[in-house]
Amino acid sequence: MNGRRYRTIWLEGPDRAAVRIIDQRALPHRFELLDLRTVEDVRRAIKDMYVRGAGLIGAAAAYGMYLAAREAGEASFDADLLKAAEILKNTRPTASNLAWAADAMLAALLDRPGTRAQKIGEARRAAEAIADGDAESCRSIGLCGLEIIRALAERKNGEAVNILTHCNAGWLAFVDYGSALSPVYAAFDAGIAVHVWVDETRPRNQGASLTAWELGCHGVPHDLIPDNAGGHLMQHNMVDLVITGADRVTRRGDAANKIGTYLKALAAKENGVPFYIALPSSTFDFKMRDGLREIPIEERDPAEVRYMAGKTADGCMETVLICPDSTPARNWGFDVTPARYITGLITERGVAEASEQGILKLYPEHSHE
Ligand code: MRU
Repeated sequence: MNGRRYRTIWLEGPDRAAVRIIDQRALPHRFELLDLRTVEDVRRAIKDMYVRGAGLIGAAAAYGMYLAAREAGEASFDADLLKAAEILKNTRPTASNLAWAADAMLAALLDRPGTRAQKIGEARRAAEAIADGDAESCRSIGLCGLEIIRALAERKNGEAVNILTHCNAGWLAFVDYGSALSPVYAAFDAGIAVHVWVDETRPRNQGASLTAWELGCHGVPHDLIPDNAGGHLMQHNMVDLVITGADRVTRRGDAANKIGTYLKALAAKENGVPFYIALPSSTFDFKMRDGLREIPIEERDPAEVRYMAGKTADGCMETVLICPDSTPARNWGFDVTPARYITGLITERGVAEASEQGILKLYPEHSHE
């Protein structure tokens, strides 16, 4: 951004008392930073999607727990932390990363000796480690996915590899790099010709407002398409590869991702287009097996479906109703793509087959859970 490299979240101020975020509500029209100073600020930022995306809400929860440590009383330190973790975990149910990060912070901080100041220092180190780990995993996902794109590029004689993506799983959805977009950036930076079909991703339009903005900032060729166009493009050989992110993936490889992903996977299977999911290990839920039955699907405010927000010709932001005044709506945030439709899972450890055996080959430490 303007010649400066940003992460999506970091600590700011002389005593690191503020968690600074890129306020995603303002994108793509304005680039605004916002400071979060309390657990309540972080709760609201996650719930109301000032920050969003599986990895980023995990990192936000970790920094929220750091703020909780700063707010906690000397005598009630552990109890206050447990309360804060509950508050943060109750914001959004689908992405694993959120609970994973809050629990990792509890594991690092509960039942520890030391003064309050030492514990706050430990909370800060633990939160920074989670954020750094997220960025590093995403960087590695990029390198693993690059090889998939390179192999396709070799068959295209210099023509661009057309990649379709849904929602935003770029650097804005993580601490840095992204999951689904990390291989795209790696390929582009390596000089491979790529072009991205960006699903608009109704109702919150993360594709239109965030993915398109990110790709534009990086100079990656792309076109925004209506959510329903992907099947048509696949039928006409205009998609070489689909890569999306994920919010939770079970040990058998079923993947929850933004609503509409499942339909893209069906169309990809029907048309012989490889369909990959990119994710860091914090998105796996090794305790779950059957994604359709077990993954909790967030249902959000129907107003997100009934209204649309955007910039008017005179540069003002406006929200308009797109249906009759009294039309009711439903708004499921995610759907589950069964493992059988997934060509492979691009992780920081390599590409896994979407099956229990394939996943555990890369993550053997979870074999006995
Ligand atoms: O509701 P959001 O925007 O927080 O949705 C999460 C997502 O960004 C997507 O489902 C994404 O593809 C996976 S998370 C990187």
